[in-house]
Formats: sequence, structure tokens, C-alpha cells
Amino acid sequence: MSSYRLRLPGPTAVPERVREAIARPMLSHRGPEFRAILARAEELLQPILGTRNRVLFFAASGTGMMEASLVNILAPGERLLIPVHGQFGERFAAIARAMGACVDTVEIPWGAGIDPAAIEARVRAADYRAVVVVHNESSTGVVADLVAIGAVLRDRPTLLVVDSVSGLAGIDMRQDEWGIDVLVSASQKALMCPPGVGLASLSPRAWDVVNRADRLGRYYWDFRKAAASVENDETPFTAPVALLAGLAEALEMIHQEGLPQVLARHRRLSSALRSGCEALGLARFASADAVLSSTVVCQRVPEPLPGGDIVRIMYQRHGTVIAGARNKLSGRVIRIGTMGSFDEPDILTDLLHLESTLNELGWPVEPGAGVAAAVKELAHAR
Ligand SMILES: Cc1ncc(COP(=O)(O)O)c(C=O)c1O
Repeated sequence: MSSYRLRLPGPTAVPERVREAIARPMLSHRGPEFRAILARAEELLQPILGTRNRVLFFAASGTGMMEASLVNILAPGERLLIPVHGQFGERFAAIARAMGACVDTVEIPWGAGIDPAAIEARVRAADYRAVVVVHNESSTGVVADLVAIGAVLRDRPTLLVVDSVSGLAGIDMRQDEWGIDVLVSASQKALMCPPGVGLASLSPRAWDVVNRADRLGRYYWDFRKAAASVENDETPFTAPVALLAGLAEALEMIHQEGLPQVLARHRRLSSALRSGCEALGLARFASADAVLSSTVVCQRVPEPLPGGDIVRIMYQRHGTVIAGARNKLSGRVIRIGTMGSFDEPDILTDLLHLESTLNELGWPVEPGAGVAAAVKELAHAR
């Protein structure tokens, strides 16, 4: 194995500049140097989130932020509507049930998108505290139409809660324009950092709910404490100081490349990788009318092949770490991250390794077909 190539849909490769920032000497979490870092991270995140809201930071993984988003808005027994079309929608429903919320789901075939008309029918029929949506369903590679869902909720008291853990900084996000009330994300995906920083941003109408005295008990996750601290560019409890220094550096890199350019790179490269996989006989998992993710490429494994073997051989022979599935799609799909710090040579190498792996498993592929399809598409996109 010549190298280790981290090509998961998170955590993703961390650029040298970010690793250097993380390795700097430790700072006081209450001192002026760290406060400047936190303020800069917030300032650089706001355009990526598409918001003028304050940004709250936590030492947390994405799941922690999912939990935080719900515990701050719910009163005991309140109702939530959760569209489920993949593993992370299921997780949101499980978290909500663990909190004692009354959970209604909209069950959607995995691979299909969320139908905003179905959401509208449900919110007309019952009172929901919130509709809870996964922006980029990493288990299927499908993106939610937040513009349409936001429009459904705009003139209703029901909040829109969104997990953009695997979308933010790789897929367009406009929190304020789309009417997203609670938006949460995490550092280890398109934000090019190690896992460990969670973030949240809340609309004024979300704060009206969060500040009510009858909400669930909360302590570490209390957004009110975080909001009070952020006024001083601090966090209520010890911040992940080194990771936040890395995040600030990653955000500088994103803005140096240019946010529109970063998003276009994600679109162009994910599409070319998908075409390359299709040329090798791996069809896209998403249904024909679903909006395809720019941050994760999720492809079907041809019927006779065990998907787990593809993942294993990619790693053992080539050092290329991709994902399968840890849910009902186990063995049936492979998933490759197309987010954060990656470029053309990365996806072309993925395709070379995938071709060689498929050959080893006895799956007939025309030599170079995957790379050729991707290169052709990249040439057209220039
Ligand atoms: C869409 C989405 N939400 C939530 C999570 C959970 O994040 P974490 O593993 O950091 O807890 C993930 C992780 O892959 C994700 O892709």
C-alpha cells in the first residue's frame, strides 16, 4: 500500500495549512487571541451558512448537534414531523423519540427526494413544533429541496430544523433566504477539519421558542448559554481551541478559493466521478428525479458483487478508504466523499482504483472506461 487516501463522505482529508493551525501552541480559551479566532470563524461562516445570525460553537460531533437542535425547541410531548429517506433521517427520529417527543415520520423510499407537497399536507393536518430535515442525506446521496420546504413553512408557526452536517460548504446553503430556523453542522466534512466542532445558527423566530420557560431540561446543549457567551466571542464551556484554530484556517482557504468556486468544484467533480462510476457499471443509487448530492457519490453495487469486498480491496490494495453502508443498504452501495479538500486527480485516482478492484472481483470493465468518462465530462465543464 503506497499511501493512505481518505475518500470517505466524512471525516475528510485535512489540508496541511489546517493541520499546521491545529498544531500551534495552546491558547487560553478565555484570552484575546482565541476570542479573535472565534470571531473570525463566525464572520467567515456566516456567508457559507447564508445568514446574519450569530453562530454558536460546541465541542461536538454532528449527532450532538442534531440532539442539541431538538432539545432546545421542544416542550414535553410536543410533536415533530420528520421526513425519513435515509439513515440520518432515521437517526433524527430516534433522537426525538428518546426525548419523549411525539414523532410523525414521512416515510420515503431511500434514494428518492422529499416531496414538499407531502410535507404541506401533513402540516395542514396537525400542529407541529418543527419539521426536521436532513439537507444532504449522506446514506443515499440525495439533497432535500429546502427552498420548497421552507416556502411551505414560511407563514406557519412550525419551525424548520435542518441538519447540513454533510452539505455545508459543499452545497449551496442560504439559511435566511430559505427560512431555516435551526441549522446545525459539524467540522469534519466539507469544512475540511478533524471531527470535534459542532455549530448551530438560529433564526429570531427559533429564539422565541428556545427562550420559553416550558422547554425540555438542558445544560451542556443550552443554546441560551451559548448565545450569552458568543456576545464575548467565547463558548460557555472549554472550547475545542485547537480545532477552532483549524476551522478558522479552513474557512480562510474556502474564501480565498471563493465560495461560488468551491461549490462549483464540488458540483463538477461529483458529477464527473458519478459518470466514471456509471461507465464502470455502477449505477447511481438515487432515483431519476432526485436532486443528486455534490458531496457524496452513492452508487449501486452490481448484483453479483459483494459491496463489502469493493470497500475492502480498495483499502487493502490501494490505500483508498471509501465507505459502504452501515444500514439496510449494507453490501448494496458504495459511497465516496466528494467534499472539502479534493480535486481532479483525486477522483481520477478513485476511478483507477475502482476499475482495478472490479477487475480483481471478476467484474468485466473496459480498461480506462471510468477515467475516460470522467475526463470527458470535466473537459465539457471547462
Ligand atoms: C447528514 C449527517 N448527519 C449527521 C451525521 C452525524 O455526524 P457525526 O458522525 O459527526 O455524529 C452525519 C455523519 O456522517 C451525516 O452525514
